[in-house]
Amino acid sequence: MKSVIYYFSSTGNSMHVARELAKKTGNGNAIPITTFDDNKNGVIEADADIVGIVFPVYLHDTPIIVKKFVSRLRVNDKSYLFAVVTHNGQFGNSLGAVEKIFRKNGSVLLSGFDILMPGNSIIIRDYTNSENERNRRLRISLDMIDRIAASIIRLEKVHFVRKNSFVQKIQLFIIWILVRSYRMPRKLWTNEKCTRCGTCARVCPHGNIHVGENGVTWGNNCLMCLGCYHWCPQKAIELDTYSKEKLRYHHPDATLADMTLR
Ligand SMILES: Cc1cc2nc3c(=O)[nH]c(=O)nc-3n(C[C@H](O)[C@H](O)[C@H](O)COP(=O)(O)O)c2cc1C
Repeated sequence: MKSVIYYFSSTGNSMHVARELAKKTGNGNAIPITTFDDNKNGVIEADADIVGIVFPVYLHDTPIIVKKFVSRLRVNDKSYLFAVVTHNGQFGNSLGAVEKIFRKNGSVLLSGFDILMPGNSIIIRDYTNSENERNRRLRISLDMIDRIAASIIRLEKVHFVRKNSFVQKIQLFIIWILVRSYRMPRKLWTNEKCTRCGTCARVCPHGNIHVGENGVTWGNNCLMCLGCYHWCPQKAIELDTYSKEKLRYHHPDATLADMTLR
């Protein structure tokens, strides 16, 4: 059976899951969604027996770039369609959100899975984990990937939450207000260690970073993925006033080259 797994990832957790699942479900292909131009609206045909999408949870929801990609994706109705979210403990209705988009386009998302991974957000407060906890999660995730791959090979229908509860809707609303007032791209800045090497601009999935004579500037099209912050080789990118001593994280199998695949 042929499988194709699309993924979005800023620090490598979802990339690792997508690549492992592609390997374990029939020598398939793991394709970063950043290889498809986000500014275009054309249909993308997924031609495989098994089609999957793997992505991180952002703010209890699905990243905008993933929602847009899924709305362009057309999946043969004979294909087994699944989604996997990687998260830091609260995945809200992220699977339900993509299921809704697939359904609108006539596709049935048959199975949804979630994997607890090291957290990479420091927005509003530090949500990253201790080294012990990161290693524990990475170890457990390998087992989870094996179990998910086994389900996929058996073409199992795996239940997942499809609707936000009332409490989740309120949570989402509060997060939305907090993030709006936080004004994310304006909170990013570079410290004296910046060499203007351009790594931040290369990893930015939206091409939203400009490196020029006067340093680094961020436009308004920020996904809040924090790729620039985590991948800066000098640890020169800061968020707000509290990021100085905070962790710069990426999955141990992810390289800078992986993150700049376009
Ligand atoms: C902007 C942002 C928001 C996030 N929001 C959540 C969240 O609501 N719940 C959660 O469990 N993890 C959240 N995370 C953590 C990521 O989902 C998690 O670390 C994920 O595995 C990262 O995957 P990646 O390395 O493929 O980018 C957030 C991360 C970022 C950057």
